[in-house]
Amino acid sequence: MTDRQPLVAGNWKMNGSRASVRSLLDGLCRGVPENGVEVLVCAPFIHIPLAAELLAGSAIGLGAQTVSEYGNGAYTGEISTDMLKDYGCGYVIIGHSERRHILGETNETVARKFRHARDSGLQVILCLGERLEEREAGMTEQVLSEQLDAVIAAAGMECFSGAVIAYEPVWAIGTGRTATPEQAQAAHSFIRLQVARHDDRIADGLRILYGGSVKADNAAGLFAMADVDGGLIGGASLKVDDFLAICQSIG
Ligand code: 13P
Repeated sequence: MTDRQPLVAGNWKMNGSRASVRSLLDGLCRGVPENGVEVLVCAPFIHIPLAAELLAGSAIGLGAQTVSEYGNGAYTGEISTDMLKDYGCGYVIIGHSERRHILGETNETVARKFRHARDSGLQVILCLGERLEEREAGMTEQVLSEQLDAVIAAAGMECFSGAVIAYEPVWAIGTGRTATPEQAQAAHSFIRLQVARHDDRIADGLRILYGGSVKADNAAGLFAMADVDGGLIGGASLKVDDFLAICQSIG
């Protein structure tokens, strides 16, 4: 099996002020562990220039939470991949469930954004995950494969080389109700298997993060599972001590 470098990414969502970004990043830069884990923060667009400035020269990477599916041009209100790269963003989250279920992104939109971001040379964290009613109806695997297949069909398998997937069950996001390590492992190994049906090598190297109420006290159990390669952290990524403790629980 390929050694996959663990990744812990903070998704700040629509939070933060200039003052809170300064104090959060100051604390993270001082405390980021040197344990082989890759650490990343995904900031709201407006905080990206400040975050880029504060993270310059640090080991912490910078990402965005979504991006336009179009190149620069007449798309009022959008932010392009070129703009993100210009400000030092290496990563972008695509298909977060809040964008799918609150902001109306379909599997097809997500697939186009994924493809465009990969073609532009950004690293992508593609989010997949079922809702509670889908899990209770026994449809988890069907939902995950539909979400994944839409992206594979639009972008092709090569786009997954070096990409990251985040499994984020919607019922675990912001609810305090985390998946058990066994539930996470089952979903992650299913996702890896789906990718392996197309390309074994890419599946083996694919990092699959778990997201949904990861906290300092449950991270180690989740990260210990064979197919859990790190986490995508919401609420706990806004607190220096909590986020650093999660980063330290890997390995
Ligand atoms: P919470 O960690 O707040 O549950 O959020 C998870 C998430 O949506 C990360 O993208």
